Amino acid sequence: FSKLRGRGVWRYSDAIAGEYRKIVTINEGGTPLIRSRQGNVYFKFEGANPTGSFKDRGMTVAISSAVNKGYKIVIAASTGNTAASAAAYSARAGLRIYLVLPKEKVAIGKLAQSILYGATILEVDGSFDVGMKAVMKLYREMGTVYPLNSFNPWRLEGQKTLAYEIAEEIGSPDVVLVPVGNAGNIYAIWKGFKELLESGVISKMPRMIGVQAEGASPIARAVINNLDEPTFTDNPETVATAIRIGRPVNWKKAIKAIKESKGTALYVSDNEILGAQRELARMEGIGAEPASAASYAGYKRALQAGLVDKDEIAVNVLTGHALKDPDSMIKSGARRIVVNPDYLGDIILGDLNADS
Ligand code: F0G
Repeated sequence: FSKLRGRGVWRYSDAIAGEYRKIVTINEGGTPLIRSRQGNVYFKFEGANPTGSFKDRGMTVAISSAVNKGYKIVIAASTGNTAASAAAYSARAGLRIYLVLPKEKVAIGKLAQSILYGATILEVDGSFDVGMKAVMKLYREMGTVYPLNSFNPWRLEGQKTLAYEIAEEIGSPDVVLVPVGNAGNIYAIWKGFKELLESGVISKMPRMIGVQAEGASPIARAVINNLDEPTFTDNPETVATAIRIGRPVNWKKAIKAIKESKGTALYVSDNEILGAQRELARMEGIGAEPASAASYAGYKRALQAGLVDKDEIAVNVLTGHALKDPDSMIKSGARRIVVNPDYLGDIILGDLNADS
């Protein structure tokens, strides 16, 4: 790694496929790998990216690719984070962008970002999957509009750099836990590790563990029940709106990554997700949105189920920032007291008395 130039995602430009005359970057990647207070567990905090999620890693490559191919118009279906990221990178590149969003099911921070960056927002009745299908159909019919969803291979090229960063800092972990929605990211990260293994940089593959929300878990159920193909749903539901997806487009790739790495998949309840989000914040000082906290909820489940040993080095990928979804944070509940400003000390003294 010592000879590498560039920063963040583009530090690994030699490993990123494609030719780029011009790169559209907002200094994405290079996110902190935070060691847990408990030791063997690490958190890869993707909330530290320019728009607050891992999507920026893929978007810098996909938008650079769109610009180099001469596209002027781009489109993406999204549960919110792809939207915010695509809007920011399109703005920087001077492209016109359309976002297809599930009406009333996008966390307010993500919607607000998309508005701020100047995207045109097209809201559909129904889940992300309805928008995804419409975008794929549009791309077939109208080739002049460039799609930014994760079936776009350049997105995954950028996202794989997360593996490069982990390997550069701590080598190859034993397990990597990734929240799974449309299922591109787990594959991208696995691909990154596989390339590092093939070039001799690391000597073993981490087991990839995919974590889904119980109400949107076709891939986890397929892996657990050893099915050849997932049973999809048209009514996905979870508090983790980022991964509220019933028909993940990249399901084959995700299952390949999981199986070939000898990993597994599991699902967690909304209560476990919100509990993990609260624990990350209150025990570790890390603010992650619910979908991100799913990876940590999955880690705790995996420990209990004996799928991961407590002595193993585990990296939880925290895909997005807590600020993305203020409503979820408010649900964590706090002690809020209306006070007479002259008597703040009384509250603290009261607490100290109660302690002793
Ligand atoms: N975590 C967060 C915070 C996400 O926004 C997403 C996906 C995922 C995990 C799952 O990643 O789809 O590659 O399996 N969000 C997409 C979006 C669907 O539109 O922002 P995946």
